[in-house]
Parts: sequence; C-alpha cells; structure tokens
Amino acid sequence: MSLTSAIIIVLALIGRVPCRAQITQDALAPAIEGEKMNLSCSHSSITTNENVIWYRQFPNQGPRFIVTGYSGEFNSTDPAGILHVPKDRKSNVFTLAKVTQADAAVYYCALRDTVRQHGDATVQ
Ligand SMILES: *[C@@H]1O[C@H](CO)[C@@H](O)[C@H](O)[C@H]1NC(C)=O
Ligand SMILES: *[C@@H]1O[C@H](CO)[C@@H](O)[C@H](O)[C@H]1NC(C)=O
Repeated sequence: MSLTSAIIIVLALIGRVPCRAQITQDALAPAIEGEKMNLSCSHSSITTNENVIWYRQFPNQGPRFIVTGYSGEFNSTDPAGILHVPKDRKSNVFTLAKVTQADAAVYYCALRDTVRQHGDATVQ
C-alpha cells in the first residue's frame, strides 16, 4: 500500500447564501490506493428542506454530481461509494469504496434545497 495522492476536498457554498453556510470539511485528505476513504463534512445549520450533495471536479472541468441524500445511506456509482447521512443530519460522510489515482480531484460537499433539485439536472 502506498500513499498515492491527496484528495482535496473544499468548503463548498453551492446552493447556499455564503453567510448562512456553515459547512466544514477536511481540507486535505490523504488517500491510500485501493482502500476505502471517508470524506467528512459538517453542516449544523442544515434546514429541513435541504439535501446533502457531493460533487467532484477534475482540473479544467466543471463539477460533476456524485450523490445526494436526505437521511440514511445512498450509493453512488461514479465513483463507487456510499453517502451516510445520520438522523440528526448535522454532518455526513461520503465513503469512496476504493480509492485510485483516478479519483484525485476536488470534492465538494453542498446543501441544496430539495425543491430545486430538478433544476440541478444540468450539473453533471
Ligand atoms: C467511515 O464512515 C462510516 C460512516 O460514518 C463509518 O461507519 C466508518 O467507520 C468510517 N471509517 C473510517 C475508517 O473512519
Ligand atoms: C448499495 O451498495 C451495497 C454494496 O456496497 C449493496 O449491498 C446495496 O444493496 C446497495 N443499495 C442500493 C439501494 O442500491
């Protein structure tokens, strides 16, 4: 097992008025090739009509949707992983099933109004 790359995840304000957003994430998460990797995000100010969303962005590309969920566990396929949102919804963990070099990207956690979700279909 080798330390291959750092997966960078950053504060994301997508869908939130910046002054209201209180989302914190690990700034730089070390990745181990072939292992699971947890990316965590806290957002104690989440409201009842907001979903958690994860995106990732490769250099010179737009953000690509990974997974969204309200509460519980939600699988993602690209990349393979599971979003865990606990009952209190004040934080979440996105687990990458198997990290590879190709997963090195900027990962964003965001909150998005559930009612606006259809409009988000263009974010791919
Ligand atoms: C990753 O997060 C999941 C869900 O919260 C947890 O069950 C698991 O123990 C965590 N794994 C590590 C290595 O932190
Ligand atoms: C999610 O993935 C797990 C394996 O990682 C599988 O057991 C489970 O059935 C999947 N759930 C859904 C809703 O697809």
